[in-house]
Amino acid sequence: MNTEERVQAHNITKIFGDNPEAAFAGIQEGKRKQTIFQETGQLVALRDVSFSVNAGEIFVIMGLSGSGKSTLLRCINRLHNPTQGTVTIEGTDVTSLTTKQLRTFRRNTLGMVFQHFALFPNKSVLDNVTFGLEIQGVKKHERQEKGREVLETVGLKEYADKKTSQLSGGMQQRVGLARALAIDPDILLMDEPFSALDPLIRSGLQDELLKLHSQMSKTILFVTHDLNEAVRVGDRIAIVNQEGQLSQIASPEEILLHPADDYVARFLKDVDRPSVVRLETIMRKPTVTYEYTSSRGNEILKQTAQTYFFVLNDRSEPRGVWFEEQIRENRAMDMPHTLHKDMTVRDALPSILTDSYPVGVVDDEGKLIGEVHRQDVVTLLTSNTLAYE
Ligand SMILES: Nc1ncnc2c1ncn2[C@@H]1O[C@H](COP(=O)(O)OP(=O)(O)OP(=O)(O)O)[C@@H](O)[C@H]1O
Ligand SMILES: [Mg+2]
Repeated sequence: MNTEERVQAHNITKIFGDNPEAAFAGIQEGKRKQTIFQETGQLVALRDVSFSVNAGEIFVIMGLSGSGKSTLLRCINRLHNPTQGTVTIEGTDVTSLTTKQLRTFRRNTLGMVFQHFALFPNKSVLDNVTFGLEIQGVKKHERQEKGREVLETVGLKEYADKKTSQLSGGMQQRVGLARALAIDPDILLMDEPFSALDPLIRSGLQDELLKLHSQMSKTILFVTHDLNEAVRVGDRIAIVNQEGQLSQIASPEEILLHPADDYVARFLKDVDRPSVVRLETIMRKPTVTYEYTSSRGNEILKQTAQTYFFVLNDRSEPRGVWFEEQIRENRAMDMPHTLHKDMTVRDALPSILTDSYPVGVVDDEGKLIGEVHRQDVVTLLTSNTLAYE
């Protein structure tokens, strides 16, 4: 993956109110948001938030309602001005742009999908989608062509001439996405784009987003208050707490295995852990041999008190698996099932549950690096604590 940093937030603090100095004094004294608000009427929405997003990454911003997610996203494109701190996008200090420069910059670089649909209800789908292009001054013919193209991408080609008010909520969200994509931005800011939708449609749109992302590899900042959505779409997740501070920035699995504090841990009970935990995390050391003969196999089984073992070639690639019964009955060696180390336990379940021996885990080069035992999977599925810390 390209690790070039595309979006950087440096020490962002956002205070709503006309006397930020009073709020800063409260912050210095370590006072909480609520106390500062009661004492000064100033609302500290974000407190010293820093992060950077890599090119092509889906970076999720997650937190409870009112934690400051939307405010943070809006500080990135300067729909809000940070009270303190700077934002750099593709090397440009966005916080120092003039209004005019900012307008051009936004039009060319940033696409935004809002928390609420924010479409023009009486305009056609196509006109909604091409709105950004119209503002850019793109000719009608050209923008309609582009508009139809992105509508096809989001699966709404047939709806181009309908009014958006005639569409379902899920479709309207797709129109919102198509509108953001139409200007072909490098960076997409998405504020709870799927929150208003029912679970099935929502997970369908998450799938589509991931598919689109793999085709277009845009850099995406995605806000949600739902950790399941966050772990599904996010490469990394930043968790904002109720003081408007970042509790943790980490991969979904890291967050699940090592939550930084109680605030983060509280989200975890609702997460489908097998969808996040990868095979590498729960695998054990594999039982292996480099020799193929069944007589040697018998010896190994006795020595190791195992009921199976993997046979590797000299590059440590699995070439077979032998288990007790086969050796006893003098049957041929099986080709083992192997799965990649980054596969989630959820995706691996069918193989894990059908095989009579542990599934082999391989790295990028196809080398056997571990084996997954059914009992460890059952533990993961049934217990509330993680045994792999
Ligand atoms: N324009 C504004 N003026 C004053 N206070 C604001 C403004 N916008 C947001 N706030 C306050 O800032 C804090 C963060 O709000 P924000 O909308 O960013 O939260 P959020 O995490 O997006 O919540 P939700 O999940 O409900 O969308 C809240 O306390 C909110 O009341
Ligand atoms: Mg919000």
